[in-house]
Amino acid sequence: MSEIPSPSTLSLFFLYGPPGSGKSSAGRLLAQSLGIPFWDVDAEIEARSRSSIPRIFARYGEAGFRKRERKVLDTLLSHARGIISLGGGALLNTATRARVEARGTVVSLEAPLETLLARLGASEEERPLLVGELRPRLEELLTARASHYTSFPLRVETNGLTSAEIAWQIQVRLGAYHIRGMGAGYDIRVKHGSLANIGEILLARGLGSPTAVVSDKNVAPIYADPVVESLKSAGLSPHLVVIPAGERHKSFETVAGLWQAFTQARLERGSTVIALGGGVVGDLAGFAAATYLRGIAWVAVPTSLLAMVDASLGGKTGIDLPGGKNLVGAFHAPRLVLADPLVLQTLPDEELRSGMAEVVKHGIIADPALFAICAKGWPVVRSNLDEIVRRAIGVKASVIQADPYEQGLRASLNLGHTLGHGLEYASGYQLRHGEAVSIGIVAAARLAVHKGLANPELSIEIQQVLRGLGLPTEIPPGLDRSQVAAAIGLDKKRSGGKVRFVLPVRIGEVRTGVEIEDVQQVFDA
Ligand SMILES: NC(=O)c1ccc[n+]([C@@H]2O[C@H](COP(=O)([O-])OP(=O)(O)OC[C@H]3O[C@@H](n4cnc5c(N)ncnc54)[C@H](O)[C@@H]3O)[C@@H](O)[C@H]2O)c1
Ligand SMILES: [Zn+2]
Repeated sequence: MSEIPSPSTLSLFFLYGPPGSGKSSAGRLLAQSLGIPFWDVDAEIEARSRSSIPRIFARYGEAGFRKRERKVLDTLLSHARGIISLGGGALLNTATRARVEARGTVVSLEAPLETLLARLGASEEERPLLVGELRPRLEELLTARASHYTSFPLRVETNGLTSAEIAWQIQVRLGAYHIRGMGAGYDIRVKHGSLANIGEILLARGLGSPTAVVSDKNVAPIYADPVVESLKSAGLSPHLVVIPAGERHKSFETVAGLWQAFTQARLERGSTVIALGGGVVGDLAGFAAATYLRGIAWVAVPTSLLAMVDASLGGKTGIDLPGGKNLVGAFHAPRLVLADPLVLQTLPDEELRSGMAEVVKHGIIADPALFAICAKGWPVVRSNLDEIVRRAIGVKASVIQADPYEQGLRASLNLGHTLGHGLEYASGYQLRHGEAVSIGIVAAARLAVHKGLANPELSIEIQQVLRGLGLPTEIPPGLDRSQVAAAIGLDKKRSGGKVRFVLPVRIGEVRTGVEIEDVQQVFDA
């Protein structure tokens, strides 16, 4: 009998591994960070039996302990959200393992013997399966369970990491984040193939019907059917609203059309809008949700790389006016961001490349491992999109977390954008956003070298990586530089005006607020 994968798979996580691997301490921090409850199975057994684990072992043997362990697990498995730290042998029993894996996601924590010994040596806790001399007992246990622990597909190496670092590595591995500080906060989940289960996922989160699925003319024909079907099976009465594709439709007219469609679909205060598409759909549907009935819930289901790693995160929604981009908008956080990297298979190559400029940017800002994947070139990138999306979202999520309303820190995300925006504008938007950002990142790196903040190798490396992904790195010769300068506020007429740049210092670190006064510095660096 196969159990239907439960919606809780997106928020019920099990930490597993040998004693000393950090399950409890990292688990507690992880639960805090994701805003969900934490349970330690051993502590639950002790509380229920009003006895200690060593005493339970002494009195009832390992079999008696395992029986109690299974009972506690059975109760915990009924929860939809939480982190559960398992005992080191809890999943040796295949039936228990099957039940646990059907309810949620197991992460196996790993560390070499010496590290485990050091961590156990520092702890006061008594461990019945390790009585006697610690080293030979633990060595024996690890050998006996080696193939068991490595049989879990999600594993995290914890060697040399603090509990907080382990918790963060687990988040990156799971693609699970939580943004606080903007209303009730919201979850971000990256899950391959999750689009087809969206109905039960939303239902489990208490999101209401009727729902409106907003998508564009390119995305709807490929993905609307499975989404609508899944919502229907969950009883969430979906109404599909298809809008034209492209930035020029991110307009008041389209929003007015959405409001009208919401009325026809009889959306109520408790209803949910689902934005299924790239950044344009997200900005539009999010803004329509922000304003309809003074704000109703919405869920972002980003389908372009740019929307996954950038546009869908941060709660900014809005539309363009004839006079400029994103001039009207609102902060209105989605209730959930659900990114399914599987859909990137159909994203046109040039859109994927453009999104990769933001990914490289995130690698430079805070994730050298992400940058290293980007450095391996296009084929490697194409076949590692899951990890790329999880890591790139991790960088933006942690920055937003520290600065939800853009008061300062978020500035680092503007790397490559000061010049990038100017280039986009001066090219009459012929340059794609990502292409302009790519050129802007390289210019920022050269400025950093020029200012003595970075080594020359840094700008060469960054340029090579972006080039390797098929992105441009030089200002197109035909572009009017004075127009670019004017667009970023560095023109001669505004002499005395300084513009603040974000400059890379090394891979994984940027400096914000570096003042540049001279246009030539930007173009000649
Ligand atoms: N709100 C924010 O914080 C924020 C941040 C960055 C960018 N943005 C906005 O995002 C927009 C750009 O986003 P974008 O690059 O996703 O543009 P987009 O929404 O126009 O999508 C790009 C193209 O790809 C198509 N597409 C999307 N997903 C697809 C898929 N899986 N398969 C096939 N085709 C697919 C779309 O139909 C479109 O033609 C801009 O309007 C920008 O202002 C907003
Ligand atoms: Zn950008």
